[in-house]
Amino acid sequence: MIPRTRELDSTIGFLKDGYLFGRRRLDRVGGNAFRGRLMGRPVVFGQGVDAARFFYEGGRFGRKNAMPRSVMHLLQDEGSVQSLEGEAHRDRKAFFIDVSSSDDSRDALVAAYRRAWLRSLGEWTASGRVTLLDASTRVLTRAVLDWAGIEADDASIDLRTEEFGEMVARAGTFGPVNWRARAIRRRSEEWSNGLIEGVRSRVDANDSRADAATTPLEKVALYRDPTTGERLPTEVATVELLNLLRPTVAVARFVVFCALALHRHPAWRERLENGNDDRLRDFANEVRRFYPFFPVIGGTATRDLEWDGSRIRRGQWMMLDLYGTNHSPAVWEAPGRFDPDRFAGVNIEPNTLIPQGGGSAPGGHRCPGEPVTVDLMVETIKLLTRDTVYTVPDQDLRVSLRRFPSSPTDGFVMELGTGSVSDAVTRTAD
Ligand code: HEM
Repeated sequence: MIPRTRELDSTIGFLKDGYLFGRRRLDRVGGNAFRGRLMGRPVVFGQGVDAARFFYEGGRFGRKNAMPRSVMHLLQDEGSVQSLEGEAHRDRKAFFIDVSSSDDSRDALVAAYRRAWLRSLGEWTASGRVTLLDASTRVLTRAVLDWAGIEADDASIDLRTEEFGEMVARAGTFGPVNWRARAIRRRSEEWSNGLIEGVRSRVDANDSRADAATTPLEKVALYRDPTTGERLPTEVATVELLNLLRPTVAVARFVVFCALALHRHPAWRERLENGNDDRLRDFANEVRRFYPFFPVIGGTATRDLEWDGSRIRRGQWMMLDLYGTNHSPAVWEAPGRFDPDRFAGVNIEPNTLIPQGGGSAPGGHRCPGEPVTVDLMVETIKLLTRDTVYTVPDQDLRVSLRRFPSSPTDGFVMELGTGSVSDAVTRTAD
């Protein structure tokens, strides 16, 4: 039976305990799940491999009414792939995977990212100092627009950088700060809408066929639903274009965590700057496991279910603890230790490392952008260890476990230098 927490409502506890919310309660009640209330609503909260499997596999949980609207409006939206279920979801998801995860597509995005980074490096060096969270948000914005086939001058890149950065940064907020970000989102939607309509009217004027689409922008604008044969309604295509662009820019937080991990673990830095390319992925995966990003993900039961001898009724809200699973001692040996070696030669089981969701991407809600996220992180590690000369000045590098999404307090300030990468000295801040 799934035990209950003693709290009447855990909303304040959730804000107070942040990423450690699940761990702290499970330590008290035991096991891998508990029943409680959040924002007045009954919830089943689960952590660990079995919980992830139950939550992600078999279409047991949909995303309707599964997240507060304040979060939903900044991260996904109504009509988006995440809001779909069953066949409609599978079809749209296959499209997302094709656009973002095919080998060619991933290579093209990584190449655009490398170009954008190296281009900015001159400016960073000239100004002497840069905050990596802001700087990499801009680099990724330039890269993803370039990759998507969207022309943008510097002023437009600035606007998009602000929009994408704000939407991600404010997703975990409520009230006026969140409203401001939602207003920014509307500006972004107008821009995205103009791009979709622009492609459609150009193609329609030339009577071209949909399969003429080559760039990701054209693919989204001209995608036809396999069942109806119709293009997506303009407002849905608008949202889906943003769903390709914005999360790619959100990788900036992992970029910063790569830099922080290299700074904290100089022996690894040395190993990676001297080749050892086969270890880059292990390092990136350990960064994704270790550092906080999405704390939890919510779903509602699509039918009556049974789990661990307990009934879960249709419509029941469930939350899966992503961060807690990535740090569960039942899943990982010494989870509090940063140790890329844990991934050496290992075939990662789908419901263990779940910063981007569990189960399978084609058959469920797991993130379609996971492979390219890892590619971008691998490229980041190369750029930081082999192409960028910098030192790390004294600053506040603490990563709050109460702020969603988190990052080092000062955003990882770097002092850029000249000379060779191996001349750079990294000074610790603590
Ligand atoms: C910064 C790194 C990223 C993180 C931490 C992240 C996290 C996640 C998580 C936790 C989910 C699962 C949501 C659920 O179960 O409902 C998800 C889904 C999704 N992600 Fe990502 N993601 C990242 C990068 C990307 C990228 C680069 C893309 C671009 C292709 C992307 C597009 C999506 C989409 C469209 C979904 C919805 C999938 C569905 O519902 O079937 N994400 N992401």
